[in-house]
Amino acid sequence: MYTPYYRPRRLRRNPRIRNLVRETVLTRHDLILPLFVIAGKDVKNPISSMPGHYQLSVDHLITEVKEIWDRGIQAVILFGIPDHKDSRGSDALSDSGIIAQALRAVKDAVPDLYVITDVCFCEYTDHGHCGPISGNDVDNDTTLELLQQQVLVHARNGADMVAPSGMMDGMVGAIREALDGEGYQHIPIMSYAAKYASGFYGPFREAAESAPQFGDRSTYQMDPANSDEAIREVALDVDEGADVLMVKPAMPYLDILYRVKTQFGLPTAAYQVSGEYAMIKAAARNGWLDHDRVMLESLMAIKRAGADMILTYFAKEVVDKLDS
Ligand code: PBG
Repeated sequence: MYTPYYRPRRLRRNPRIRNLVRETVLTRHDLILPLFVIAGKDVKNPISSMPGHYQLSVDHLITEVKEIWDRGIQAVILFGIPDHKDSRGSDALSDSGIIAQALRAVKDAVPDLYVITDVCFCEYTDHGHCGPISGNDVDNDTTLELLQQQVLVHARNGADMVAPSGMMDGMVGAIREALDGEGYQHIPIMSYAAKYASGFYGPFREAAESAPQFGDRSTYQMDPANSDEAIREVALDVDEGADVLMVKPAMPYLDILYRVKTQFGLPTAAYQVSGEYAMIKAAARNGWLDHDRVMLESLMAIKRAGADMILTYFAKEVVDKLDS
């Protein structure tokens, strides 16, 4: 019989020793909860592919942020759904638009909640692309000018951090310039630096009513086959002044997350996207997976791979679970 000399099982014998050797800890402070705010009054539309999530009008949003703050969530990211969409996404450029209204109301109700805004046009354009179209494609440099206007709306109305998600070339530099030019040097940029053209965004497009009306996003979001390209994309954003780097989606792209964290060493975020959430919910509803266990394991895996913070639709349930 072979008797091993070194026995890793020695350090797994009971919960006390497992607690002592644990390398990764998930806390409520790692989490950012995405919220969808829609124009109108007294609207609370369930999002069918994202159980537990709703399109909320500002009045319901206020109730929600008070509740989550009391539950111990300290950060959110806001997405707006306007009542009127047009070819350039004008609602996003106005201090009376949906995000501007939501920001003022949230900051008034819970001043210390850390509010991040998604900076993009796909929820605001009638064609569903992330900037104005010229020919058959998004016009990059015109989009940069509009992004500069959009972030100033967010900054003026109280955003703590802005998160450009459109994968336009030069977006971080353009946004930094706009913010600094108006005295918002203190507002950090979380760049969706390596964002893939992913099928996992399906449920989000129902939630945000932002599915492209023609074509897809492959001329601006990244090809899932590429990894070195992600490093080049991230390097550009670092040069342009990104404060936080995001990789998106999360679980199918843990290799990218690991490379980004290891190579750049900046604060790194991962977005556990709508499809990742929906898969776990659906399997759990069928009794095929243990919901809480898989939820926590998925987030732990994302953190272990290098995320300092995680955007996740599970944030509320995780906080409750960590408490119990
Ligand atoms: C674009 C944006 C998207 C998501 C976040 N920001 C969708 C897209 O690129 O089509 C997806 C998030 C998710 O699936 O949860 N503004």
